[in-house]
Amino acid sequence: MTTKVYITRKFPDEALAKIREHCHVRIWDEEDIPVPREVLMQEVADADGLLCMLTEQVDEAVLASAPRLRVVSNLAVGYNNINVAAATSLGIAVTNTPGVLTETTADLAFALLLATSRRLVEASDYLRAGKWKAWSPMQMTGQDVYGATLGIIGMGRIGEAVARRALGFGMKVLYFNRSRKLDSEREYGVTYCELSTLLTESDFVVTLTPHTPETANLIDREQLALMKSTAVLINPGRGGIVNEAALYEALAGGQIWAAGLDVFEHEPVSPDHPLLTLPNVVALPHIGSASVQTRKKMAMMAAQNVILGVTGRMPNELVNPEVEAAFLARWSV
Ligand code: GLV
Ligand code: GLV
Repeated sequence: MTTKVYITRKFPDEALAKIREHCHVRIWDEEDIPVPREVLMQEVADADGLLCMLTEQVDEAVLASAPRLRVVSNLAVGYNNINVAAATSLGIAVTNTPGVLTETTADLAFALLLATSRRLVEASDYLRAGKWKAWSPMQMTGQDVYGATLGIIGMGRIGEAVARRALGFGMKVLYFNRSRKLDSEREYGVTYCELSTLLTESDFVVTLTPHTPETANLIDREQLALMKSTAVLINPGRGGIVNEAALYEALAGGQIWAAGLDVFEHEPVSPDHPLLTLPNVVALPHIGSASVQTRKKMAMMAAQNVILGVTGRMPNELVNPEVEAAFLARWSV
């Protein structure tokens, strides 16, 4: 039987060619339309490898309809769209694309931070709408970034990369994480604190924690109420970490100053989403890792992971290392 990999979106040529060197590829060759669930279910029925996007829900039902599946290679560092426990119990390796997107995503986090604090989008719209009549002392005034306090929630690779940028802006950096990161503290001078302290003391709060049942609605009404009225919330991580209804209230009521969002609870959001009606929100369509260079690297990494998985070798970027014995056992029968 030929080895088959299914890819759920139009995919960069070089990485696609690489997979084709090793196996038969079928692809949902659309740029803007995700694969319909029925098509995904049909395609995985005889697939050995699945290379998917964060838009595909790879849940128990999908996995159960894929008896030959050895590997699910996600084109993202986050993998909350995949039921990893179910995959593990079936001996299926799950992989992601960490590392290669760290700096690019940290750049975007900082771009959002600067755009939001200095009202770049609002000011640009103002000018383009012909509203700029004269220079004026307090016109389009924002919040200072240099020397401010930054609170990072989730001190992983991207959190560290944001902290490195903050040092250049003379910022004091606080962080909250499941566990203390002594290396980050030594290397970047960041200070661990409880979530409530971070929220109370920070001028900018950046959420970078993975989306898990424990982190859902981590930032809700109660947490937003702790933030300064001049504070800015930046979410380049995952929607669902920040409660959107609570955030809307906090922004509309002047409880916090502004928000920069690259992610939403339900994506894509429509232009009439309440948060998008607010002038103090800068909103982006989940482009954190979207540089040409990084997306090509992610595609190559995801390709390599799927190739290893369908040829019986443990992929490099495993998110479920505990699958190893079950994964290898499937090849020895
Ligand atoms: C994008 O959000 C990713 O997880 O890579
Ligand atoms: C992702 O790479 C993270 O650990 O933040």
